[in-house]
Amino acid sequence: NKYKIAVIPGDGIGKEVIEAALAVLDALASAGGSFVLDYEHFDWSSERFKTTGSYMPDSFLDVLQPKDAIFFGAVGDPTVPDHISLWSLLLPIRQRFQQYANVRPIRVLKGIKSPLADCKPGDLDWVIVRENSEGEYAGQGGRTHQELAIFSRHAIRRIFRFAFEVAEKRPRKLLTFVTKSNAQRSGMVLWDEVAYEVAKEYPHVTMDKMLVDAMTTRMVLRPESLDTIVATNLHADILSDLAAALAGSIGIAPTSNLDPTRRAPSMFEPVHGSAPDISGKGIANPIAAFWTAAEMLDWLGEKADAKLLMEAIESVCGRGILTKDLGGSANTAEVTDAVCTAIKES
Ligand code: NAI
Ligand code: MG
Repeated sequence: NKYKIAVIPGDGIGKEVIEAALAVLDALASAGGSFVLDYEHFDWSSERFKTTGSYMPDSFLDVLQPKDAIFFGAVGDPTVPDHISLWSLLLPIRQRFQQYANVRPIRVLKGIKSPLADCKPGDLDWVIVRENSEGEYAGQGGRTHQELAIFSRHAIRRIFRFAFEVAEKRPRKLLTFVTKSNAQRSGMVLWDEVAYEVAKEYPHVTMDKMLVDAMTTRMVLRPESLDTIVATNLHADILSDLAAALAGSIGIAPTSNLDPTRRAPSMFEPVHGSAPDISGKGIANPIAAFWTAAEMLDWLGEKADAKLLMEAIESVCGRGILTKDLGGSANTAEVTDAVCTAIKES
């Protein structure tokens, strides 16, 4: 099958890891993959902003709408305030396309050591579902320093339904919902209320509730007690960075911004940012971008190739070909070549 993909590498290591991921996707396609990707590249980035005054054209929705998916690197530049860069590129795409489900699978891959001492394979295997359209990142507020979080019944209900569907398809059928309804007494109380309402539609899924602060300790101390997790925009943002670190590095974690109705294209990106501290050195870990590519193929329906790509990634990690953030000494190109070779040999 043939798919139209918008490629937006963005800034910093976003450019490096997207280039690496395109090489891996090429290897997969030419090794008998059942898909063809028709790329269109966009230079939407901080560099474009500094020369033209905007990150992307006003017509970005029309430009992206006909695509089957968007493959995104990262945005952020030391010379541009982060709230400007994020709100000029990534957040408008997520929100205007109503990519309301941000899905962040994470697990300890073969060959990668978790910083948790007794973490056995399979102990940490989670899917974090993040509400991606409103909440604390609704973008409402003003220069008199209010920041308004928005929680609507409609948006809470749809993210819970989505999270239950994810949980239901996993062997353990366990959904933990994260809240802070003891301190945040309006929106978060509605969040809890809708959780129990929607739970009635999914009697085969076990649901439990955690306050976000206690959730951090449970993730560290009892990772095996968790499976699917649903949380607000802010809470899930923070918990998913913790999750990535517990699985070895922020450099491995993928994320999908999905419009489950499929009316708009969905967007796939690594969890990490542009990492200015290591950008330009060729040492960024490309695994997050590879795993992201696998998530994109899976969403497009190319499940066999997605699986093959994950197996190639794990075989390379299992052989100890790792970047510095994972305790190895390989650079981006070496990991990329190894994954391409593993694909060809599989
Ligand atoms: P970051 O994720 O860019 O970096 C955090 C730390 O992790 C750094 O020490 C970095 O070197 C390391 N790291 C990240 N990805 C890595 C990889 N693939 N391989 C090896 N090491 C990796 O987050 P930070 O430093 O908070 O933000 C830097 C810039 O990125 C900021 O401008 C921020 O706004 C932006 N950002 C953008 C995101 C996006 O586009 N989705 C997400 C997070 C941050
Ligand atoms: Mg984040």
